[in-house]
Amino acid sequence: MITDPQAKSQSGEYLMAFEDSCDRVPVLLIHGFPLSSSLWDFQVDDLADIARLIAPDLRGHGLSESTPPPLSVGDYADDCARLLDHLGMDGPVVVAGLSMGGYVAFEFCRRFPERVGGLILVSTRAGTDSAAGKEGRDKAAGVAIAGGAAAITADMLPKLLAPAAYEAEPDLVEFVREMMLETSTDGIVGALSAMRDRPDSTPDLPALEVPTLILHGQDDQLIPVSEAEVMRDGIPGSELVIVPGAGHLPNLEQPDIFNDAMREFLEGFY
Ligand code: MLT
Repeated sequence: MITDPQAKSQSGEYLMAFEDSCDRVPVLLIHGFPLSSSLWDFQVDDLADIARLIAPDLRGHGLSESTPPPLSVGDYADDCARLLDHLGMDGPVVVAGLSMGGYVAFEFCRRFPERVGGLILVSTRAGTDSAAGKEGRDKAAGVAIAGGAAAITADMLPKLLAPAAYEAEPDLVEFVREMMLETSTDGIVGALSAMRDRPDSTPDLPALEVPTLILHGQDDQLIPVSEAEVMRDGIPGSELVIVPGAGHLPNLEQPDIFNDAMREFLEGFY
């Protein structure tokens, strides 16, 4: 925290000095499936000197309550907007989304363009699910209904990290496993329906006029780097950083490289 000696308020009979991080770049961090705000722990720790970081748990994830499925990316985008309202943040923010969080970020841009000052798109894609992909969502919903978060975690966790990190970093694997296991069955099924039915954001790319940083793990097993290149080619002036030695969660797997790129991007807002 930086204390601004000018920032004193005449409060009663004495001068009260205070700190407020509100003058920093506001950043909304939207996690992926089936994770939580803890996904962003390394960014919240490292970037707090430059940014005001808001990291919600989406419905049914982390500590947030569940609502019955189905859900839509619009529900999540509205929830994020309501959170910003609640915090009195009515000006533009940098919206960062990882994977499913990126799908929500695109929807947030469609619904609240005036509230978006910048975009950070991590391990995500602009396009929709194929027919086979949609079938896979319904199958996964069946798995979750039968076996809860544990069943989804068993299937998905090995694909979230780069193979080398999955082998060599048991603490990281456990950290991600714990996050996944916190997700309620309604949260999982709702998220699967939201992802299955999400609109195509590809036609929106050329009209995105805000500064945009795209980050993608070189060894992402869930979404190929080519999807990041599609977004880079589509969004005018956007920058793509490929993170070496990282899979689907580059912000956790390579936090130093990730945070350096994010810091440089956020410095552009001062
Ligand atoms: C995510 O990481 O949020 C999801 O795996 C994205 C997806 O399944 O499309």
